[in-house]
Amino acid sequence: MDDASRPEPDAAAFPADADAETRAEFLLRYAVLAPSSHNSQPWLFGVEDDEIRVYADESRQLTVADPDGRELYVSVGCALENLLVAAERFGVGCTVEYVADDDRPESGPDAARHVATVRLDRESAVATDRESTPATGRAAALFDAIADRRTNHRPFRSESVPESLLERVEADAASVGVGLELVTDPARRERIAALQTRADERQFDDPSYRAELGRWIGDGSLGAGWLAARVGQLAVRHLDMGAREGKKNSKLVTSAPVVAVLTADKDTVESRLRVGRAFERAALTATSEGLAVHPMSQILEVEELRAELSELLGLGESEPVHLFRLGYADPDATRTPRRPVEDVLV
Ligand SMILES: Cc1cc2nc3c(=O)[nH]c(=O)nc-3n(C[C@H](O)[C@H](O)[C@H](O)COP(=O)(O)O)c2cc1C
Repeated sequence: MDDASRPEPDAAAFPADADAETRAEFLLRYAVLAPSSHNSQPWLFGVEDDEIRVYADESRQLTVADPDGRELYVSVGCALENLLVAAERFGVGCTVEYVADDDRPESGPDAARHVATVRLDRESAVATDRESTPATGRAAALFDAIADRRTNHRPFRSESVPESLLERVEADAASVGVGLELVTDPARRERIAALQTRADERQFDDPSYRAELGRWIGDGSLGAGWLAARVGQLAVRHLDMGAREGKKNSKLVTSAPVVAVLTADKDTVESRLRVGRAFERAALTATSEGLAVHPMSQILEVEELRAELSELLGLGESEPVHLFRLGYADPDATRTPRRPVEDVLV
């Protein structure tokens, strides 16, 4: 995959008068711009009439870093949210139905798991007037942010995040049934940074972890700017970089004015998808307001540290599912590639 291969959809080309299937395929151009762990893009879609079946492609799972598939489903949830934001922008009403764990067939096409179905409203094909109502204004801003959003790996500035934005992110998470812990207090951020250091040391000490990361870097998935530029695929395979990464990443954690953790009462496929939706909406909201986001999964990937994080946050029975930094930063120029829609249709 070369760094330039990232589709740039043209909103003006929305086929408002076309049949539901054509409109659905157009909306998927925005779904595929979603973030995903290691840019694995573990999504597939089946379009039939007014129905879009959403699949998780388990062949793209990070079997070392993400053995139980949490990040896989969170990533698919991000793509689902982009799809829904794009539908709203073009005035296409739709409903989402999650496939209950019990109802899911053993496997779908090519190790894909059917996880949700989006049904488009046949009648509402008219493009919305983007500035006419406040709700439409927000839909337009979120939509525009889909193409602009990037993961920002740079240090963040200490400037605090406006309370109104945090309230919006919290309300959006609640609206999809997901909890959100916002850590702004410096002492607690320091403690999370210490967990981050230990997570990096632990993971980079594991040759299979380094090999998996090296494979995705070698594939070009993470873009030319990431770790690849500094150490290259071979170094990731063969050197223990834990101490260096741990130090750098813990500084990134303490630099951020907000460390956010999305939580779920029960750890199910549906709750992971919902967390993905909440994260992507938060990322789009942040982007539209000139803020940066950066998911950092390492703590959650090491069971013992994940338990320590839960305790530090006082989560009780609820599960920490996704952690990210939020704040202001200089732009990150890294451009990650995407598979085109044709490649993710089943
Ligand atoms: C579930 C999930 C976990 C992620 N974990 C990390 C992480 O631990 N560290 C990191 O730098 N980026 C992480 N990312 C960001 C991805 O690497 C990024 O989305 C992907 O490379 C595509 O780049 P983009 O977000 O700039 O479009 C994560 C993204 C998702 C959705």
